[in-house]
Amino acid sequence: MVLINECKHNNIKSMCGIVGYIGTRQAFPVLIKGLKRLEYRGYDSTGVALVSTNAMLNVYKEEGKVANLEANVANRDLGGTIGIAHTRWATHGIPSSTNAHPHVSQSGKLALVHNGIIENYSLIKERLLKLGFVFKSETDTEVLVQFIEYVKETHGVDTVTAVRLALNQVIGAYAIVLVDKEAPEQVIAARKSSPLVIGLGEGNREFFIASDATPLVEYTQNVVYLNDGEIAVLKRGEEMQICNLKNEAIDLDVQSIEMNIGLLEKGGYPHFMLKEIYEQAQAMKDCMRGRLLEKEKRVVLSAVCNHSERLLNAKRIIIVSCGTSWHAGLIGKQLIETFVKVPVEVEYASEFRYRNPVINKEDVVIAISQSGETADTLAAISLAKERGAFIFGIVNAVGSSIARTTDTGTYIHVGPEIGVASTKAFTGQLTVLIMLALCLGKERGILSEVEYEEIVTELAAIPDKIEHSLACNEKVADLAKSFTYARNFLYLGRGYNFPVALEGALKLKEISYIHAEGYPAAEMKHGPIALVDTEMPVVVIATHHQLYEKILSNIQEVKARKGRILAIVTEGDEGVRDLVDNVIETPPTLACLSPLLTVIPLQLLAYHVAVIKGLDVDQPRNLAKSVTVE
Ligand code: AGP
Repeated sequence: MVLINECKHNNIKSMCGIVGYIGTRQAFPVLIKGLKRLEYRGYDSTGVALVSTNAMLNVYKEEGKVANLEANVANRDLGGTIGIAHTRWATHGIPSSTNAHPHVSQSGKLALVHNGIIENYSLIKERLLKLGFVFKSETDTEVLVQFIEYVKETHGVDTVTAVRLALNQVIGAYAIVLVDKEAPEQVIAARKSSPLVIGLGEGNREFFIASDATPLVEYTQNVVYLNDGEIAVLKRGEEMQICNLKNEAIDLDVQSIEMNIGLLEKGGYPHFMLKEIYEQAQAMKDCMRGRLLEKEKRVVLSAVCNHSERLLNAKRIIIVSCGTSWHAGLIGKQLIETFVKVPVEVEYASEFRYRNPVINKEDVVIAISQSGETADTLAAISLAKERGAFIFGIVNAVGSSIARTTDTGTYIHVGPEIGVASTKAFTGQLTVLIMLALCLGKERGILSEVEYEEIVTELAAIPDKIEHSLACNEKVADLAKSFTYARNFLYLGRGYNFPVALEGALKLKEISYIHAEGYPAAEMKHGPIALVDTEMPVVVIATHHQLYEKILSNIQEVKARKGRILAIVTEGDEGVRDLVDNVIETPPTLACLSPLLTVIPLQLLAYHVAVIKGLDVDQPRNLAKSVTVE
């Protein structure tokens, strides 16, 4: 049976968080707690479907966040030990309770949650409409659940077979979880290009399903990551069965995960973002543990040891990433070119993937991603792989798609980052890039022993200096009060601190909704200086490093136009203080390590401006943590 014609495959995906449960506990609390952990993936509407003991399917959906749903269903029938749930980031159709998942089939028997985009949904919908199907929502997901039901009825097959046959005709990306009230002892899950992980309870008594491992870790350490084209059938008390789209059985690959649950809670901080800013010293220690050997003054990265030939013979390195990870890449370029003397290009993954780039077999591509799920970065990796490049990943989320796609790599190990605005992941990415550049620079003989040891020793001292930098928090909070009026900000930096200026501007934009631009300080005179007036705050990174004297001149240029200047300076600096309105001091360090310190006050500034403006710091409007849409 071929119901659908070909449609252009452009590999679009969407965000959203999925949770599912089958077991012996009441499902609702497990689902709600899991959704809250996944809310970073999208938070415009929420829903749950519960299969009750008398095989009723109760579906509750609300526009807005998980807490909204929780409050509004408190008096409803929430019983049942099987359920599925979803938190949405809208793609097809506005955020509303109608468009929220789960979506239910026409007969009311099947309920489905979905992360992804069914690209040929309109063709399927057209055909189903002609057959008399009625649709309530504007979503592709409702089309999929109706289609599964249509296949089930016309072929007279069981639900698992119907799911498989339907998915064989679907073009696009999906992670789905489905329940059937007429088969109340099973949950079906499937994936293609959107992540799905299944947690195994003891003795197969229960199974937890989620978009990532964070909702599972408090129940189990044993998980199975579904691979593309796999369908899992979960039945209480039975071993999980996995098959592919051809109905061939797949062996279970059970992996063990460890995660500190404390890192998933706010731990007394008002927001995850502030907590994560404060965690940076510890996170950096975790990132360097076992890799930076302080006594021996050595850095050892197993990925470099295992693939030294491939890495050292690279004629060129291309860094692909997005957003904050791209800013880390820009600093990585300077580090690698200085320490290793190999040319480095830094590309927005979204541009790289579409511009038919020149990639050679000798190239090494470094993919940087906190979430490990960013669609653009994944697509860039697959293009580079096709053309024979060697892929090195710098990823935070263990077991994520990027981590599993790359040839080798180094986890940043900074723990889960929940705040949508990336903070500790940035310093973690920088830490790995510095260690990578050190290892390669040493091996290639570009860095002398003295230089190498000096940088390693100073790198080991940075966590304490981050701790020390955080003492500026109160001062920044105070200063932030006088900046909330601003409609625009300019951030300036040079050398290693130009990307930090970009990062400071991105942080402010993301969470305070104030327009901000980052510029290399000297580039200002080529245009942006026209914007400077008494209303324009200008943040200048003016630490005692490369081009300090030049930055003093750039500051003078802003001052002459009456711009309001906040300077990030090295402790004890006397040159800048009298020229600017305010200074924030950071501890002295080497130029190449300075971004690890100069970024701290900029993260705090963005945070406090947003808090004073009364904005949702951890879940800013229109954003999601894991950008799995192209
Ligand atoms: C950072 O604050 C952003 N939320 C965003 O730019 C992010 O860095 C970007 O989407 C890349 O994400 P990744 O590191 O998970 O790939």
